[in-house]
Amino acid sequence: MAVSAPFGEVAAGVDRMVSPAAGASPAARRPLVELSQVDLAYPGGTLAVKDLTLDVAEGELMAVVGPSGCGKSTLMKLVSGLVRPTKGRVAVAGRDVAGPLKIAGMAFQNPTMLPWLTIRQNVMLPLKIVEPFKAEFAAKRKGEFRERADALLATVGLADAGDKRPWQLSGGMLQRASLCRALIHDPKLLLLDEPFAALDQFTREELWAVLQALWMKKRPTVILVTHDLREATFLAGRVVVMTSRPGRVVREQAIPFPYPRTIELTYGNAFGGETLALRGAIFDARGGTTVAQR
Ligand SMILES: Nc1ncnc2c1ncn2[C@@H]1O[C@H](COP(=O)(O)OP(=O)(O)OP(=O)(O)O)[C@@H](O)[C@H]1O
Ligand SMILES: [Mg+2]
Repeated sequence: MAVSAPFGEVAAGVDRMVSPAAGASPAARRPLVELSQVDLAYPGGTLAVKDLTLDVAEGELMAVVGPSGCGKSTLMKLVSGLVRPTKGRVAVAGRDVAGPLKIAGMAFQNPTMLPWLTIRQNVMLPLKIVEPFKAEFAAKRKGEFRERADALLATVGLADAGDKRPWQLSGGMLQRASLCRALIHDPKLLLLDEPFAALDQFTREELWAVLQALWMKKRPTVILVTHDLREATFLAGRVVVMTSRPGRVVREQAIPFPYPRTIELTYGNAFGGETLALRGAIFDARGGTTVAQR
């Protein structure tokens, strides 16, 4: 990876079209993430997910949508090893997940930054923790690794934020920095839990393009949780709909548009048809009630 300009390379790589099912040979489609018949009950008894079965292929960009509280963040915690299933199996790269995963980059719903570190230092944290970067951290933290963090920050419009502290940034800026932190160690698996929720529409769409370009270039496996059906349809090759709690998968919808996708696409009828179908599935997943009916 060209450390000084990670997305320069990315941008150069998006002029070719990629079909959502690209790499659909059996080897390329083998699941990187496997959940089979997983139940998760939190202490206190809340059954967050029940009988959750889901495969995510290597290199796939999959979105998860569903009613609030249905267990989407729980799914991310299960895959990342932050919680262990009460029943069933969670495996990544063929191995049962037994603790926090190192091959994963994560950006979660409420970005947590260490307040005593600068934004750049926060973004560089995974390099300090994860091998093989960890071994080189002392030697490279003021050179190559710093440049890598600054290049990522520039990509998301935070070129001037590296020396600031987290409390000096807005919520949306923190969310962008959190995305940089998730990407800094070039993870094979990227877990994004509503990473753009606090952003205005235009910034959000810009970051869709950044994420799409990154995915096309590096092809990490991405699980993206979102409440935004346009976001899911724009980015994902497949969207999974979960039921109300206890969550399980009730629908899988393949999104047929080739990559790279453009914002113009989102205003077309075909795109509208995909989001409408998802909306209907979520309506059913919530039990088919509207707010007015409850
Ligand atoms: N640490 C916890 N302890 C106890 N219950 C929890 C815990 N975390 C989540 N829950 C409960 O598990 C259920 C699923 O929560 P989860 O955060 O996975 O939902 P979600 O689909 O991500 O919701 P949202 O869309 O609002 O983010 C909820 O009822 C929630 O209250
Ligand atoms: Mg959540």
